[in-house]
Amino acid sequence: MRVTINQIKEMKQKGEKITMLTAYDYATAKIVDEVGVPLILVGDSLGMVVLGYESTIPVTMEEMIHHTKAVARGTKQAMVIGDMPFMTYHISVDDALRNAARFIQEAGAQAVKLEGGVTVAEKVRRVVECGMPVMGHIGLTPQSIHQLGGHKIQGKSPEAAANMLEDARALEQAGAFAIVLETVPAQLATLISQAVSVPTIGIGAGIGCDGQVQVINDILGSFADFVPKHAKQYAKLTDIIRKAVAEYYDEVKVGSFPTDKQSFFMDDGIIAALKK
Ligand code: KIV
Repeated sequence: MRVTINQIKEMKQKGEKITMLTAYDYATAKIVDEVGVPLILVGDSLGMVVLGYESTIPVTMEEMIHHTKAVARGTKQAMVIGDMPFMTYHISVDDALRNAARFIQEAGAQAVKLEGGVTVAEKVRRVVECGMPVMGHIGLTPQSIHQLGGHKIQGKSPEAAANMLEDARALEQAGAFAIVLETVPAQLATLISQAVSVPTIGIGAGIGCDGQVQVINDILGSFADFVPKHAKQYAKLTDIIRKAVAEYYDEVKVGSFPTDKQSFFMDDGIIAALKK
């Protein structure tokens, strides 16, 4: 039985911290699921940490569906959340419904996430009314990076802080089951978490959120291009991978790989007969 939105909401009521991680492939999702992480986000961060784009903006529905299917196949207990890419829910409610449905029906996700507050609240309401759980995402919303002028801390001025609180309330009222708060001062994230009944999931938003989300490559140290301040590296996989690849390269070059242990053998008589 997979984690449900009611269980996630109950965790907030009980004061139990909620863990969320991204995953983009079958093998990684399987490990995250087996550890017991209840929420797995197939984030559009896929574009940067897996596909090598400069931002999340070029990510397409087809790419998201492809990777969400792999994550869904690798999981049994976690709720899989598909991240709706840029411009797949902005133009109309119809677009939002059609694309959210693809994540649920075609890719095997149990929920979708989309960026924005007041401006997307109507779309959130309609998607939820059609039976598809929605996670909101406010604060630093990477799909609007050009409008925001870079990866800046959001909500620092009195108006920006008040707008963010209004965005959170709009998402709560529209029926979002949880809200991601990205790159938000810890005090504001705490205030928002106390002001709304739905769980807040922070990334660079301090300890006062109801849960935390991280991009898996950041905590594993497997993406060397950029390490955000909010990330803690629990491993340094790039170093381990580089060492293993270099050893393999050297062993092939000098002829010490493969050995008999990695080889298959047959009756020498057959080879002798072939040679004749
Ligand atoms: O795309 C993503 O990975 C995200 C998380 C950082 C919340 O949106």
